[in-house]
Amino acid sequence: MLLRSRAVQIKSPREIEAMRRSCQLAADTLCAVAELVRPGVTTEEINDFVHQDTLNKGAIPAPLGYHGFPKSVCTSINEVVCHGIPGPQKLEEGDIINIDVTHIVDGFHGDTSATFYVGKVSDEAIRVTEVARKCLELGIAEVRPGARLGDIGAAIQEFAEGQGCGVVRDFVGHGIGRKFHEDPKVSHVGVRGRGERLRAGMIFTIEPMINVGGWEVEVLDDDWTAVTVDGSLSAQFEHTILVTDGGAEILTVRDRPLVNSELYPNYWS
Ligand code: MF3
Ligand code: CO
Ligand code: CO
Repeated sequence: MLLRSRAVQIKSPREIEAMRRSCQLAADTLCAVAELVRPGVTTEEINDFVHQDTLNKGAIPAPLGYHGFPKSVCTSINEVVCHGIPGPQKLEEGDIINIDVTHIVDGFHGDTSATFYVGKVSDEAIRVTEVARKCLELGIAEVRPGARLGDIGAAIQEFAEGQGCGVVRDFVGHGIGRKFHEDPKVSHVGVRGRGERLRAGMIFTIEPMINVGGWEVEVLDDDWTAVTVDGSLSAQFEHTILVTDGGAEILTVRDRPLVNSELYPNYWS
């Protein structure tokens, strides 16, 4: 047990099947809550929807009560990097908002997030959001047995910094299973060929947080809300990933387009 708690777990076929279920339900809630995103909606309403939709699926909202987090979902607007707490704040035209959903099903966690556009937004908001979306894609493309954790961070860092954006260091992806956060830590910056070797059966998230400006973040007095120090916009996307013999399986894959987010499919072409 000591070893198991320290090393990166290799999930059994039964654990993988349970993770597929929690991840698919989390992805489905994210697709559903996407429809709520519009000017005038409060983050409390987003929370209430996610809370109820999670329960309707027979799942438990993992954020609620996690290390004292007071709500069932994280809602992070504009310069908020992550862990925004839902409340009376209304979404405004021009905002970007990350909604981060984590379900527990039969004891297993499924974790996924996306950034959404609130009405018409600035070119800068589109840019940081599309950079973050691409960073997740590039990180996932590195995943295969024998690759290193540093390959994931390097791919993300090279692209984001090449676009003039900052990559957040203080929050990272994570192993996930019966625990919300377990080993390994998945940094979104790194050096190719460094770090732990990936093996089939590992499950972890990749969840790059990308800033228009510098990478530095600070946590507000509520002890949760992380914001960019320079006040610049920040965007994030997250999937839960299984390392397979052939590469990667996106456990939180969606079965339909993400409304209010997937608006620029040809942005990089
Ligand atoms: N879902 C976040 C992550 O991707 C963690 C949120 S912890 C909470 O790791 F307590 F704020 F919910
Ligand atoms: Co996560
Ligand atoms: Co998450």
